[in-house]
Amino acid sequence: MIEFLDLTKTYGKSGTMAVDHLNLKVESGELFGFIGPNGAGKTTTIKMLTGILTPTSGEAVIEGISMQREPMKAKRMIGFVPDGADLFDRLTGFEYLNFIADIFEVSAADRKARMEKYLELFELTGDAGNQIRSYSKGMRQKLATIGALIHDPQIWVLDEPMMGLDPRAAFLLKEEMRKQCEAGKTVFFSTHVLEVAEKLCTRIAVINKGKLAAVGTLEALQGQEHAESLEDIFLELTQKSGDGESE
Ligand SMILES: Nc1ncnc2c1ncn2[C@@H]1O[C@H](COP(=O)(O)OP(=O)(O)OP(=O)(O)O)[C@@H](O)[C@H]1O
Ligand SMILES: [Mg+2]
Repeated sequence: MIEFLDLTKTYGKSGTMAVDHLNLKVESGELFGFIGPNGAGKTTTIKMLTGILTPTSGEAVIEGISMQREPMKAKRMIGFVPDGADLFDRLTGFEYLNFIADIFEVSAADRKARMEKYLELFELTGDAGNQIRSYSKGMRQKLATIGALIHDPQIWVLDEPMMGLDPRAAFLLKEEMRKQCEAGKTVFFSTHVLEVAEKLCTRIAVINKGKLAAVGTLEALQGQEHAESLEDIFLELTQKSGDGESE
């Protein structure tokens, strides 16, 4: 379970409010999609959720534990795939995964089993012995994804996870996201691929200019906005809020 309580982030002296009093609750077992225009505040929200950024005010609560008050405890429960994962170039895939497993104190047996399973699943087994600097963008993305699952986290957070993945890898990732939710985990991800959000998510939140523009199941959003596709809903909501703000 994830809760955002009045989560707010203002950057620098300019006072740009990247995330503006965000209140949202995501239940366990949900596959939750976070969509919004460029600069809407998705990555900023995710960075506060994962403890990378300190909120200006408010907090992110994971399984009842505040990321801001008890970061070490909260971080243990999260697996995070950032956008454009910046990995350690000189480590091999195996070394990287072992490093992450060490940080999360994963037992030898568990890490071996999970490494084998996920390297096989994402078709990276043959490359795991090579240095990361020899990896393509998609291979890096896959390795970061496996690294985020190595401690079997209760909460899986992904920032634009489909970026750079080929169609087959994207399919495999979507399947894994579904499986995690079926196992009672919470998956929270941002995406610009509306078809993915449409097909995959239990609920979707639309964020615009740091504010929650709408949240609900696809059906609920369709009813609310009198629109068929998520694309229409997205355009309608982001247009509307934009107009409101500029007036
Ligand atoms: N480090 C930073 N310093 C100053 N402003 C920032 C910083 N990071 C983000 N911002 C600003 O905060 C706002 C939200 O940015 P954010 O990266 O959260 O958007 P996003 O929804 O993830 O966008 P995208 O879809 O392009 O990834 C933007 O106005 C951006 O310019
Ligand atoms: Mg972003």
